[in-house]
Amino acid sequence: MLRRDTSSYALVCQQTGGPCKYTGRGMKESHAQINISEKEWQAMLADFRRVMNNYSVPAKEQAELAAIVVSTKKDIVVRK
Ligand code: HEM
Repeated sequence: MLRRDTSSYALVCQQTGGPCKYTGRGMKESHAQINISEKEWQAMLADFRRVMNNYSVPAKEQAELAAIVVSTKKDIVVRK
């Protein structure tokens, strides 16, 4: 999800204080056609947490990053 040459990386970089500038499309527009479910969202979050644990990201930073990711949910998850 966060390879350094991807727009997801630029988005998270911007949302965590920069210096990157995200120039991609909005989250709603980018994901509307993919029809992402709650179950798929939960699977993504589990992977996300696993990766952060693998890299020993401290709990405080994990919570901050997870909050940024979770703030996009309403625009990304479109079905139960
Ligand atoms: C289950 C969760 C998710 C899935 C399955 C998913 C899947 C995808 C797919 C397939 C695309 C390509 C769409 C296209 O090219 O038309 C995309 C684009 C993108 N996604 Fe996600 N995504 C998920 C969650 C997220 C989250 C949580 C973020 C950010 C925190 C994110 C950020 C982006 C960005 C920045 C783009 C590119 C937008 C653009 O420049 O057009 N995605 N996603």
